[in-house]
Amino acid sequence: MTAPADLSVVDDADALARFDELVANEQRIEPRDWMPEAYRKTLIRQISQHAHSEIIGMQPEGNWITRAPSLKRKAILMAKVQDEAGHGLYLYSAAQTLGITRDTMMQQLIDGKAKYSSIFNYPTPTWADMGAIGWLVDGAAIVNQVPLCRCSYGPYGRAMVRVCKEESFHQRQGFEILLTLMQGTEEQREMAQDAVNRWYWPSLAMFGPPDDQSPNSAQSMTWKIKRFSNDDLRQRFVGMLVPQAEILGITLPDPDLRWNDETQSYDMGEIDWDEFFEVLKGNGPCNAERIERRRTAHEEGAWVREAAAEYARKQALCAEGQVA
Ligand SMILES: [Fe+2]
Ligand SMILES: [Fe+2]
Repeated sequence: MTAPADLSVVDDADALARFDELVANEQRIEPRDWMPEAYRKTLIRQISQHAHSEIIGMQPEGNWITRAPSLKRKAILMAKVQDEAGHGLYLYSAAQTLGITRDTMMQQLIDGKAKYSSIFNYPTPTWADMGAIGWLVDGAAIVNQVPLCRCSYGPYGRAMVRVCKEESFHQRQGFEILLTLMQGTEEQREMAQDAVNRWYWPSLAMFGPPDDQSPNSAQSMTWKIKRFSNDDLRQRFVGMLVPQAEILGITLPDPDLRWNDETQSYDMGEIDWDEFFEVLKGNGPCNAERIERRRTAHEEGAWVREAAAEYARKQALCAEGQVA
């Protein structure tokens, strides 16, 4: 006689075969489908970290909205920061389809337990930082995220399609800020170059550690969550930047950067991975400030959440035919 435990193993084996077949055939895994627990956990981690990055990423630019140099610049920057809020919300919703609640994710973030992109822990002292962030940080985000539109998990891939369209606008507005500064006074050109000097290396680090030090990458590629390796994406990004830097008249701050005909790729200087891991651990220039700001915003927004919940409760009562 077969024990129930054995039956569940048989079920899982069938389900796993079905899952593998869907992935192999480039079909999407949807929330209703069975999926291996490790796949679910990997996606929860990746999508929630991505959502947190969008939300924390609003801060370095948000603090320039009131100081943008013209009404037009203010309107553009405000639209961009609002887009990032929208990205965060799509992504939290996508993560929720995997069985984690929004409250849990938010709590992990404000308790300092969740990771987010380490780039948002650097300060934004000048207006040129808005240009450098748009050009480099949103530029790196596009290179990272375009392949995610084909992610095997349906809700994540679909969210990425709209996110990527908006990221293209973000990158263009950053490029255009830098172009305007580079056509300005000597002081403005220096300000643009200085901002690029500060953001260039952290933007390269956004693709994650080199392939030989990225233990989870291979599994994510087998599952078709990730389509290209960290180093391949970094190469693609640098290949995009080089001609754009020429148009801007900006120098990319890497004396070792040059095209290598033999390898058909760019040789580049060493990224400071010690700094990257320090910032990731919470020791960057603005980590504490970013989390504190998010915690305060969350607490100050409590009345909005309560009011929305109460409104939803009354609407439900009305729908049932009871007067609230
Ligand atoms: Fe975004
Ligand atoms: Fe963006």
